[in-house]
Amino acid sequence: MKNPLLKTMKIGFIGAGNMTQALVKGMVESKEIRPDHIMVSNRTQGKLLKLAEQFQVQTRAHNQEIIAECDVVIIAVKPQDFSTALEGLTGQFSDHQIVISLAAGIPFDSLEKQIPTGRLVRLMPNTPSIIGRGVIGFMSPDEDEGFVSSLMDDLFGGLGYVMKVDNEDQFEALMISCSSGTGFVFEMMMYWQDWIAERGFADDVSRKMTIETFLGAALLAAQSEGIEIEELQSRVTSKKGVTAAGLTSMRELEIERGLRISFEKAAMRSKEISRTQK
Ligand SMILES: NC(=O)c1ccc[n+]([C@@H]2O[C@H](COP(=O)([O-])OP(=O)(O)OC[C@H]3O[C@@H](n4cnc5c(N)ncnc54)[C@H](OP(=O)(O)O)[C@@H]3O)[C@@H](O)[C@H]2O)c1
Repeated sequence: MKNPLLKTMKIGFIGAGNMTQALVKGMVESKEIRPDHIMVSNRTQGKLLKLAEQFQVQTRAHNQEIIAECDVVIIAVKPQDFSTALEGLTGQFSDHQIVISLAAGIPFDSLEKQIPTGRLVRLMPNTPSIIGRGVIGFMSPDEDEGFVSSLMDDLFGGLGYVMKVDNEDQFEALMISCSSGTGFVFEMMMYWQDWIAERGFADDVSRKMTIETFLGAALLAAQSEGIEIEELQSRVTSKKGVTAAGLTSMRELEIERGLRISFEKAAMRSKEISRTQK
């Protein structure tokens, strides 16, 4: 059961960009949070007007008002704008306030230094949140016997699979595999689509064939609880058959090794960015 407090909570967003728009849409559509309990501020006015018109949320001219009025403050600006957005305001969070950072490159210990008060949460949504899918991971000390964890479920459950990670290394793994991972999957989908199109299919048909193949495999795995992905793969692979020939080649070409190297390169870049944000 959802926390009854959710109906009375005020949820504030600092920054009204892509992620805020996705999260606001999900929250309003879930009907668990009243639109007039959502407040948004932004550097410039254009996106605020659009959000207010589309979802009937409230807007505020200054970030300070969001901090003063909201129980939950979601900081949704790019990492490079983080310090400016909170300039002169970091001491204004109260101890009970939930402060959620979406900033990809700012590690938890650095957040703690910048915002000494408030109950900090580092959250990683991703673009499929727009359609209520994908993984939303968070990290939080959660010293309140699960209060923060259940609140994250209540707030973001409609936007995908919400999960808690235990430490910064896991947060990075989640960011690379699920958030950047969405981009990696798109890369593979482009290879698929190009190969199909080169065989004379129209672009829109190649796109549809690609999407349905990825979607079909993902949904089949999702609906085959208890069956390993390897077992599902073996069901489309007969000995010395067509699929087996392709898979043997993929293994000889060490596609897995290539992907692992790409994940590691992404992890190195993530560490590099985090160092510059400290
Ligand atoms: N997009 C993703 O897939 C994704 C996934 C995971 C995490 N994230 C994280 O989510 C955060 C937001 O990303 P996004 O894609 O939503 O970025 P975005 O579309 O660029 O939106 C950022 C917003 O912040 C506003 N802003 C900048 N400085 C501000 C300030 N001082 N005060 C108030 N608002 C300010 C910008 O205002 P203007 O309109 O004036 O530019 C802009 O609307 C980032 O930290 C990112 O790392 C994003």
